[in-house]
Amino acid sequence: MNMPSQTLTPLAESLRPQFPTLKVEFDGTPLCYLDTAATSQKPASVIGAINNYYQTKNSNVHRAAHQLSSLATIEYEAVRQKIADLISANKSEEVIFTHGCTESINMVAAGLDPQIKEGDVILIDSAAHHANIVPWQQLANRTGAVIKPIPLTDNFQFDFKAYRSLLECEPKLVAITHVTNALGTLNPVSEIVKLAKAAGAITLVDGAQAIAHLDINVQEIDCDFYTFSGHKMYGPTGVGILYGKYDALDALLPLLTGGEMIKTVSFEETTFGKLPNKLEAGTPPIAEVFGLGAAVDFIKLHLTQAHQQQERVLLNYLTDKLSELTDIEVYAQSEQNVGVVAFNVKGEHHQDIGMLLDQQGIAIRCGHHCAMPLMDLMHIKGCCRVSVGIYSTQADVDTFIDALQQALELLD
Ligand code: ALA
Repeated sequence: MNMPSQTLTPLAESLRPQFPTLKVEFDGTPLCYLDTAATSQKPASVIGAINNYYQTKNSNVHRAAHQLSSLATIEYEAVRQKIADLISANKSEEVIFTHGCTESINMVAAGLDPQIKEGDVILIDSAAHHANIVPWQQLANRTGAVIKPIPLTDNFQFDFKAYRSLLECEPKLVAITHVTNALGTLNPVSEIVKLAKAAGAITLVDGAQAIAHLDINVQEIDCDFYTFSGHKMYGPTGVGILYGKYDALDALLPLLTGGEMIKTVSFEETTFGKLPNKLEAGTPPIAEVFGLGAAVDFIKLHLTQAHQQQERVLLNYLTDKLSELTDIEVYAQSEQNVGVVAFNVKGEHHQDIGMLLDQQGIAIRCGHHCAMPLMDLMHIKGCCRVSVGIYSTQADVDTFIDALQQALELLD
């Protein structure tokens, strides 16, 4: 294919033909997709893997004596191992398939019930999305635990000074975000977890916005739990991962009970089986797991150090171009941001900007980004968020900036 000679993003350009959705047009206007943080587009290999499962292996896993089921079960378990390898888990039993990152966090919050008592402190990330806030509030409502948000600095970064002082109250649990969805802030999670562990806390890191951009090593981070969704890492919707250290996972009360998670059942009582089945009640999202396996293959092949560096260059280019425009407020600017740039146009409503961009084929997210407490801290109702992925190019950014300039002229 022909590539511009001076482009900042040759690797991304070479991957675009693998993504059918990137060819979509609206009335002749090509789609410019800058909403990967909401959901990533899927390469043909992921779509093909789901199709192939339904065409050649459709059967339930772990249940039947027939060959079709054995085939599906072997491949299903092979994906578990692929995920374990991708995030450097100690063993595949530490990887639980869920229906998404939200369910993964809920499984931990519900599963910790017996370990939390009245007055226990739970520290949460002030910049978190609702999925990493609401389940902890529900846990606190059930147990009488106390939620304390970890403050942010003036630039909406994690405030270590405030965090250290909160740790003095010996929290039972610290739940943080690896990369924040609204602002793209990269939190130094290893350091945060190390301090939490020294204070005796259980730790959960929400990796929903990190997994498609960074190499993840859960043993280096050393958290008890790490969660993410398939659909943000070029895989399908409807599947997610709960990673946990074996003993931490094993100590969770299963949120879902039923078939396949048991050892014995009588009308009087049930004994639970072993991990990972113990936390995977019912028929799992089998086709989605197959698609996720293909997404892992894709990431392993293409999310190289060179590509990660190129994505960083693109994000900095985007931030610089935005900052050059008048009347634009870019939030939480940092060279370390991952995948996301958030902004508002002074005096204009974020939804109006989103609509004017959409009319020109540009897809971004505008709103509170499921992070209402963060918006409150920022004293805004919402903002515009541009987010990039492995296929995002300099041309996408240039198209977006041109479209934004046109919108600004229209509003002038
Ligand atoms: N959590 C997703 C987002 O940030 C939906 O857009």
